[in-house]
Amino acid sequence: MEEERIVSPEVVEEEDTLSLRPQSLNEYIGQAAAKEMLDVYIQAALKRNESLDHVLLYGPPGLGKTTLAQIIANELGTSLKVISGPSIERSGDLAAVLSTLNEGDVLFIDEIHRLPRYVEEVLYSAMEDYVLDIMVGKDSNTKSIRVDLPPFTLVGATTRFGDLSAPLRDRFGVVLRLEYYTLEELKLIVSRTASVYGAEIDTEALEELASRSRGTPRIANRLFRRVRDFADVKNEGKITLGICTEALSKLGIDKNGLDYTDHRYLKAIIYTFKGGPVGVESIAATISEEVSTIEDVYEPYLLQEGYIKRSSRGRVATEKAYKELGIPYLKGLFA
Ligand SMILES: Nc1ncnc2c1ncn2[C@@H]1O[C@H](COP(=O)(O)OP(=O)(O)OP(=O)(O)O)[C@@H](O)[C@H]1O
Ligand SMILES: [Mg+2]
Repeated sequence: MEEERIVSPEVVEEEDTLSLRPQSLNEYIGQAAAKEMLDVYIQAALKRNESLDHVLLYGPPGLGKTTLAQIIANELGTSLKVISGPSIERSGDLAAVLSTLNEGDVLFIDEIHRLPRYVEEVLYSAMEDYVLDIMVGKDSNTKSIRVDLPPFTLVGATTRFGDLSAPLRDRFGVVLRLEYYTLEELKLIVSRTASVYGAEIDTEALEELASRSRGTPRIANRLFRRVRDFADVKNEGKITLGICTEALSKLGIDKNGLDYTDHRYLKAIIYTFKGGPVGVESIAATISEEVSTIEDVYEPYLLQEGYIKRSSRGRVATEKAYKELGIPYLKGLFA
């Protein structure tokens, strides 16, 4: 990405997430279905004095997967170790991390779909039997040594469920999909953030901010910080509807939370490809973006909100997309 997107659901800056992160299931807003399941499984594990079954969390970026992993460890009363799929290049690196785990610990692997396959294979026996098979020696002298691991819980996070290999997927006893947050939930999150920062925010401003946050807590918190900057400079810190709309429009975020990049994407479909259907590769080439960025970051929200549809023949811009951009929708007349 050439420009930094304020509404990117990805981590783009060092954020003050520590104080904003809820620490317990009770404090964690929304995701009712996932929370209810986790609550039962965690209590059952505690009651039986066993480690919790392995948990796979999937869903679009910024919805609280990392936060939830930390909460799982907190609720179990154990500690959390965090690693990320792309940073583990050799199976030895993973073996080293696994061998530092204590009984009941939670190992969080972010972007688990990006673990190299030969590293992933080390996980199979670790997850299933709590053992580590390590190859030692050279050439004709290699032999495999089996090392016991303490029972632990693997929490994997991914934005791409479909990219996980079947053997890895099958080893998770608990698979939870995180959903975009509702307006009401986002309002709770923003008002919690405001109170953590000790900031004053009007109910109309709260509603406005929440409704432009694309269902995503990370974006809500980031927009909140920027709006608060405007309020501090121009309004003695009071976040009002006026301050909020002024700041958000200066940041290039429209009333539905879409920005320049979304508009560029939708315009490519509408103008360059006559509204679609068009394959994602063609869109990627037109707007000079990676296919994976488009699929993981741009499209999930646009799909969820009905700006685009996906068919076997590609992406189609819906009437809602034309409206959003103020382009007359004539499809129906010619179809
Ligand atoms: N349910 C929630 N209630 C309150 N705040 C939340 C909630 N979920 C996430 N947040 C806040 O949103 C931010 C992003 O959450 P988190 O880092 O856990 O997202 P993530 O799903 O791991 O994202 P990614 O997929 O990009 O790693 C955090 O700063 C956290 O404070
Ligand atoms: Mg994360």
